This record gives sequence, C-alpha cells and structure tokens, in this order.
Amino acid sequence: MARSPKLCVCACSATLQAPAEALAQRLGLLFCPSSEQAQTAGLYLRYGEHGLALHDGENPQQGPVYADFISGKLGYRKTHGSIRHEAIARAVGLKGGHRPGVLDVTAGLGRDAFILASLGCHVTLLERHPIIHALLEDALHRAQQHPPTAPIIVRMRLKHSEASTYLADLTPAQSPEVIYLDPMYPQRDKSALVKKEMRVFKQLLGEDEDAAQVLQQALGVAQKRVVVKRPAKAEPLGGCRPSHQLMGSSTRMDVYLLG
Ligand SMILES: C[S@@+](CC[C@H](N)C(=O)[O-])C[C@H]1O[C@@H](n2cnc3c(N)ncnc32)[C@H](O)[C@@H]1O
Repeated sequence: MARSPKLCVCACSATLQAPAEALAQRLGLLFCPSSEQAQTAGLYLRYGEHGLALHDGENPQQGPVYADFISGKLGYRKTHGSIRHEAIARAVGLKGGHRPGVLDVTAGLGRDAFILASLGCHVTLLERHPIIHALLEDALHRAQQHPPTAPIIVRMRLKHSEASTYLADLTPAQSPEVIYLDPMYPQRDKSALVKKEMRVFKQLLGEDEDAAQVLQQALGVAQKRVVVKRPAKAEPLGGCRPSHQLMGSSTRMDVYLLG
C-alpha cells in the first residue's frame, strides 16, 4: 500500500514559484524556497523548465523522475514508428479497426496508457498516489500544449482515485470494455532496482499489496477482458490463471477473457 514520506516542493526559478507553492498547498506539503534546502528532505518535487519532477536528494546522481509524453522513449516520432505490434496492443484486443475503451487502474507515469491512446483507444487512467498523480497531471498538461501529442492526450482522462472505490461506483452501463492492471510487484531480482525510477517508486509507494483483490473486482466489472502486466517469470497475480499469456523479453501480459 502507498506510503507518504516527508516531501517538499520547490521551483527552479522565481517565475515557477507560484505554481510550486500552489501544488505544495494542494498536496499538504512544505514549500521550500531553494532547491538546496529541498535536497535535505530526501525525496522532493521540483518545478523545472521541463515540468514537474521527483528528485531524490540523497542520490542526486540518479537524476529526476518525471512523466513525459513529448520526448524520450515515448516521443511522438518513436511512438508512431514501432508500437503497433506491442504485446499490450494485442493483449487489450486491438484488431482491425476495433479500438476498445480501456480503464487503466494503475496509471503510474502513464506510459502504457499513452501507448494505447496513441493506437486510438480512449483510456481512463486511475492513480491513487497524490505525488504520482501530480507528475502525471503535469505531463498531460504539457503534452496538451504540444500540437503533435495533443490529439493523443484528448483520448486520455486522468482521475485521482483508488481503483477499488472507482470500480465499486461504476454502474453496469459504465462498465469498461477492458481493464488494465500493472501493479508494483515484490522485487526479488536486485538488478532491477538499478533503474532509478524503480528505486524512487519503491521508496514512495512500497508494493501494491492489494493488487490481487483489485484483479478479482475487475473480473466482475469489465465487459470483455482484464489484462495484467507481470514480470515474465512471475506467478499469475493472486494465483488466478489467465485465459492466455503474451510473452515479452522481461514482461508478460496475462489476459483474462470474460463472457
Ligand atoms: C508499476 S506502476 C504502473 C506503471 C504504468 N503502467 C506506466 O506505464 O507508467 C503502478 C502504479 O499504480 C498505482 N496503483 C496501484 N494500485 C492502485 C490502486 N488500487 N488504485 C489506484 N492506483 C493504484 C501505484 O500508485 C503506481 O503509481
């Protein structure tokens, strides 16, 4: 379950001070007038020229963690070249012109949701942790201002919500065609912790220990299928056998067909 270590918010320049202060107030965090002061607090949020980022003051060499749909791996050009054949596209049931509506109940930094939205799916993203939600909200806002990504972002709707509450409140008429889960999992392989993002996520979020319960709930709510992303060699979530599996090099998609 999510933990919230003491965190503060700062800005890289005087012009970004107002949004930083507003965010600190909204999240009930401390506002730090200088980055140097923020660094002593361990994890801290910083408004920089490239948007909101999460820094680890104790490991500054690791660099910041932020959501980004404009450049980097998910950059517009790369996206349009290579994602059509990704396992996630097949897992959610993209076929011909069919584009299922997807509820991503573990949004994180929104990469999987962005891939699905790039392929034409309408995706509702749920994120329960306020800090991760703030990072994602900021990235979506930036991508909305960027003409090449704006038409994709239109298909993404972010909600700050706990999956179990959201699913419990859905009426049958609102039930999504596909529910997608990518929970944090217990990490036995230390080498995976080398990834800076994984380290920071573990520090901030711990593990998603309720994931198996969310899967059971999702199986009762989705219209057509539930998809769970797992490490390639992991047991199915909560021991619940999927209808079929799509193997990638390090991850696997477990697909539960319904109806
Ligand atoms: C491994 S990350 C997901 C990464 C994401 N698929 C991506 O592409 O960036 C898991 C995220 O889901 C969120 N999460 C886990 N369980 C949740 C729940 N029950 N309700 C809402 N959010 C949840 C966590 O806070 C975390 O940010």
